[in-house]
Amino acid sequence: MAKGEIIVGVCAAHSPRIAFPEKSGAVWQPLIAAMRRAADTLAERKPDVVVLVSAHWVTSFNIYVEASPRHKGVLTAMECPDLLRAIPYDFPGDPELANAIVERGKAAGMPIIATDEPSYVEDYGTIICLQYLTPKWDVPVVSLPVCLMSTLEESMQLGAAIREGVEQTGRRAAVVSSAAFAHNLVRGPERWPTPEEKAVDDHMIELMTEGRLATARALLPTFAHQAHYEMGGRTIATLLGALGDGWKGTFYGYGPSSGSGNPVIIFDRTKELAHA
Ligand SMILES: [Fe+2]
Repeated sequence: MAKGEIIVGVCAAHSPRIAFPEKSGAVWQPLIAAMRRAADTLAERKPDVVVLVSAHWVTSFNIYVEASPRHKGVLTAMECPDLLRAIPYDFPGDPELANAIVERGKAAGMPIIATDEPSYVEDYGTIICLQYLTPKWDVPVVSLPVCLMSTLEESMQLGAAIREGVEQTGRRAAVVSSAAFAHNLVRGPERWPTPEEKAVDDHMIELMTEGRLATARALLPTFAHQAHYEMGGRTIATLLGALGDGWKGTFYGYGPSSGSGNPVIIFDRTKELAHA
């Protein structure tokens, strides 16, 4: 089997305000356009599998990896059952890759467990994101949570386990962080982050689009603290840990949701490495 590789990385959005784009107001249209453009990019790259870390699957002690052969169910979000209710979903999984990630994570000393519980209900950070990124629901997905006991360092190590699992199983994978950056929530869905928080987001986006991912990893704890990153920045840490170095982001768009800042960024390998 040929060695697998991550072929694309994604910072993606999942605001409930973009779940039904035909009903979304003008303030969310740039974000919707950015997510659709990201979907076009994924369709061009044709990954074998999407590995998605969602800020709305939150665990306390263990890291889980969804290892079902098929993700099927109906989502009503606990957080907003009026906005997101009775949304059916049905898409393939990738148990072999999920189990490989678990194996690599265990080898690194993490409390990580594969789960294929049929009654498990996917979270909206996963479903809204996938509704855009894989609109035909035909690409296998391995979903992972944020674990509250994970430090940012462990979240980055989880990313390394994802990369090793992808390599081991020969997959060409997309790795997605489904999370806002700034996340100091306020009432008022159309509200933006404060200028100070937006400046922190802009700085992180600049590091990513300049390909300075080592600096982004080093400054993530500070930025996550300053702008109250969603789930402490853990999903971003996992994406950055999975990518390692030699990647450059392309900024697709940014939008607000109740005070949060939601960028859409696609990461490609830098040319030097691609030709190495
Ligand atoms: Fe969120």
